[in-house]
Amino acid sequence: MSTMTLFHSPASPFVRKVMVLLHETGQTDRVALHEVQLTPVAPSAAVVADNPAGKIPALRLADGSVLHDSRVILDYLDNQHVGEPLIPAGSARWRRLTLASLADAILDAAVLLRYETFLRPEDKRWDAWTAGQQDKIERALAYFERDCLAEIDSRFDVAAIGLACALGYLDLRQPQLGWRERFPGLAGWYADVAQRPSMQATQPK
Ligand code: BEZ
Repeated sequence: MSTMTLFHSPASPFVRKVMVLLHETGQTDRVALHEVQLTPVAPSAAVVADNPAGKIPALRLADGSVLHDSRVILDYLDNQHVGEPLIPAGSARWRRLTLASLADAILDAAVLLRYETFLRPEDKRWDAWTAGQQDKIERALAYFERDCLAEIDSRFDVAAIGLACALGYLDLRQPQLGWRERFPGLAGWYADVAQRPSMQATQPK
């Protein structure tokens, strides 16, 4: 039976990270999904009541307290199962969390780009700002491709989950970036991990 509630939107890549971890650690039954519609200019009252920042994911625990954001929720849920931790302890921890943070930076930029085209009126768009977000994504992907492929491939943990969800979100919202052509190593890695049951079950429609 579910003892926690996750404020959820199927298209949110930050929510997807949490869902992938729940699948990977066998905890999906513990969390009920409360689907919300929200944007930065039209927040969800249900989310704002629990998270003043108005952002998802937010996780309501059995005692009524609420955790946010995705990094905090991943850490919490990773402490609630008995399997191999997906946020490693020891010396690997800081490197894997740093790679996870870089994957989050891709997501931050990609979500901002989404809002820029989906929400911002055309006459208020700023090309240099858009290019800056695209450059951030490019630099991060280039770093993963050039310096971290073997590292990322070594285990499907918090870093790999973050990168997989970032690449999935680029496919969903920024397909014109054509990341596969420029980063074939990442494309090969993603082709494999996208087949994992956790990734298949959480694929945005
Ligand atoms: C999206 O539809 O791209 C989206 C939805 C929720 C949060 C972030 C992005």
